[in-house]
Amino acid sequence: MVDRVVSGAANSQDLSFEQSLRPQVLSQYIGQDKVKDNLAIFIEAAKQRKETLDHVLLYGPPGLGKTTLAAVIANEMGVNIRTTSGPAIERPGDLAAILTALEPGEVLFIDEIHRLPRAIEEILYPAMEDFCLDIVIGKGPSARSVRLDLPPFTLVGATTRQGAISAPLRDRFGVLCRLEYYSENQLTNIVLRTAEILHTGIDREGAIEIARRSRGTPRIANRLLRRVRDYAQVQGNGKITMELAETALERLQVDRLGLDHIDHKLLKGIIEKFKGGPVGLETIAASIGEESDTIEDVYEPYLLQIGFLQRTPRGRMVTKLVYDHFHIEIPTM
Ligand code: ADE
Repeated sequence: MVDRVVSGAANSQDLSFEQSLRPQVLSQYIGQDKVKDNLAIFIEAAKQRKETLDHVLLYGPPGLGKTTLAAVIANEMGVNIRTTSGPAIERPGDLAAILTALEPGEVLFIDEIHRLPRAIEEILYPAMEDFCLDIVIGKGPSARSVRLDLPPFTLVGATTRQGAISAPLRDRFGVLCRLEYYSENQLTNIVLRTAEILHTGIDREGAIEIARRSRGTPRIANRLLRRVRDYAQVQGNGKITMELAETALERLQVDRLGLDHIDHKLLKGIIEKFKGGPVGLETIAASIGEESDTIEDVYEPYLLQIGFLQRTPRGRMVTKLVYDHFHIEIPTM
């Protein structure tokens, strides 16, 4: 996948940047109000009972703040967080090592939990349910199972695909939180907050311009802010105004809705090669030279969200909004 300025997926710059300005507590976290209100109650109740918080599953498109929220949960509970990811755990022993090293009450964050191999997922079931680990020692007829007690802990799992989580795993999470795309107003406030931390001058209109092109995604908003800040510093007087943001974002080829050249290629490809659809995902992928998983997980969710794409039983279709956006006449049948 090519590096895009409007991708929700994190690059290494994003990760170190996000770490430095991450909100620490729920009250600093902007947006996701329903999720925050629920979590605040569950956290308070667990603290009053002096128990660990129930396991939490966070799901939603990339870049909406799942890792940030996991860290906030640990912080609000007053415990440490240990972070790993589905693809990083390759062998049962990897997970056993992580689980047995936990201190009582800690949060174990597993990002991309849908990518845990099934055999490893099964080790999690007794760990989540009874805080114990079943280890098989030996092979063949002499093999025996040993049960190891674990300290109580909270598993926070994150996934971009709720549907890719097996039912037995999903059922073991007491708290399910779906993160939504952010509103323009929430993203504006996130941009203003980040700019303040970075000591970057910006007016509200400048922040709105960045927010509008950020595809409902804080990670993208903060990344665009960094690029626009560079532009303001070198080509302007350091202050981000609406005009400056507009010019900088045009140069970055991020259009008024936050669509970039890949979105354009995808949407125009469906119009030009497939008469607007319906056309199958695999066919689109082959025609624009992208992986179908990447289209499904990264490009498509926002296009569906803004009503530019529709999923039908016969494949993907562009809507009238796409023809309007590109000033293309809708063909008559
Ligand atoms: N930075 C990135 N996401 C944020 C959020 N949801 N609230 C505050 N700051 C953020």
